[in-house]
Order: sequence, then structure tokens, then C-alpha cells
Amino acid sequence: MEDNAVLKTIMHRRAIRRFEPRQPEEEVLRKILEAGLYAPSAGGRQGVIFAVSQNAEVNLRLGRIKRASSSPSMATATRYVSREQPSIADDPNIRDAFYGAPVVITLFAPRNFLFAAEDCAVAAENMMLAADSLGLGSCYIGQGWTAFADPYGQEILTRWGISPGYYAVMQLLLGYPRAGDAHPAPRERRAGRVLRF
Ligand SMILES: Cc1cc2nc3c(=O)[nH]c(=O)nc-3n(C[C@H](O)[C@H](O)[C@H](O)COP(=O)(O)O)c2cc1C
Repeated sequence: MEDNAVLKTIMHRRAIRRFEPRQPEEEVLRKILEAGLYAPSAGGRQGVIFAVSQNAEVNLRLGRIKRASSSPSMATATRYVSREQPSIADDPNIRDAFYGAPVVITLFAPRNFLFAAEDCAVAAENMMLAADSLGLGSCYIGQGWTAFADPYGQEILTRWGISPGYYAVMQLLLGYPRAGDAHPAPRERRAGRVLRF
């Protein structure tokens, strides 16, 4: 068993989509956000904006908009995302693409910046690992802009004061994993992906 704490966390982190409704403690959330702020960024520009929403009504409405504006290729008997923590591609009855997570963090980056997506992804990974190490579950949600794809979404962007020069790259969901759920097991790693010369 690995005894390096960072490597242990990397191996333990899994996408969590079933959450307890309670909010994480402020100190825990602060540490996770700090891990995001200390992520690498292209050119050291620190362009990523982290919009943290703990408002259940806003999160539900944006999650529903996102679900309605997504068309994932649905799971089949042999191809699925997760049996233990079903995604919107696994279960057509899930109407909230944010799965009722108590914290939804939208990561925004400048529209005309070549490394916008990468900057958000590395910040998200830092936060996902921090979350796991603090006992919280997390899930990366791609194509963040689809949550704002109607007038209500646009109203929220205005309410949050997001400059039109920025776009929502992704969302990071956070919350305590649902009590009684087993921690998901990782899939086997596909072989042959490391080429060494
Ligand atoms: C770029 C990216 C986009 C993702 N988008 C979604 C998403 O929209 N909805 C979702 O439920 N999970 C999403 N995920 C989570 C993946 O489904 C999950 O990481 C994958 O199934 C592997 O499971 P694991 O994270 O537990 O190892 C995304 C992950 C990445 C890296």
C-alpha cells in the first residue's frame, strides 16, 4: 500500500455524483479554493475566476438548464460511465446535471485566451485532490457554458458580475458523499498507453 499521502489521494479520488445535502464547513471549502488558486497557470497569468454557488435554487436551475442543453450518448449494457455513481449519460431520469451537489463552482476564463481550458482543468484537479484529502467528494463537469444557455443563465452571469470577456469552461461539484454509499472502485487502466523509448 502506497504511503505517500499525495499519491494515496490521487489513487483514492473518484467522481462522486451522490451527495449529502449539507454544506461543507467554511474552513474546508476555503482550503479547497486555496488549492485551486495555487494551481499552475499558463504564463503565470492566474486568469481563472472561481464562482462559488451554495444557493440550492440557483444550482438546481442551472443544473436543469445544463441537462436540457446536453445530449450525451446514453449508456448501453457494455458502455457506461458509472454504475455506482450514475451520470446523466447513464440515467435519463436524472434531470439535474449537477446531481444536487451543495456546492457548484463554475470556473471562468478569458474567451480569447489559448490556454483557458487547460488553466481551469489543472485548477480543478488541484481542488478535486484537496477535496478528497479532506473527506469531500467532487465531480468535474465539462462544457460549463451550457449551464447558462438560456435567459435565466444569462441573468445569473449578470448577477455574478461575470465580464462578457469570460466564459464558463467547466463546473466543479463538491459535497460530502452520500452516507452509506461505498466509495467507487477505479476501473482497470487501459493497457498500452505509456510509450517508453
Ligand atoms: C473533461 C471532463 C469532463 C467531464 N464531464 C463530466 C460531466 O459532464 N458529467 C459527469 O457526470 N462527469 C463528468 N466527468 C467525470 C468523468 O465521467 C469521470 O472522471 C470518469 O468517468 C472517470 O471516473 P473517476 O473520475 O471516478 O476516475 C468529466 C471528466 C472530465 C475529465
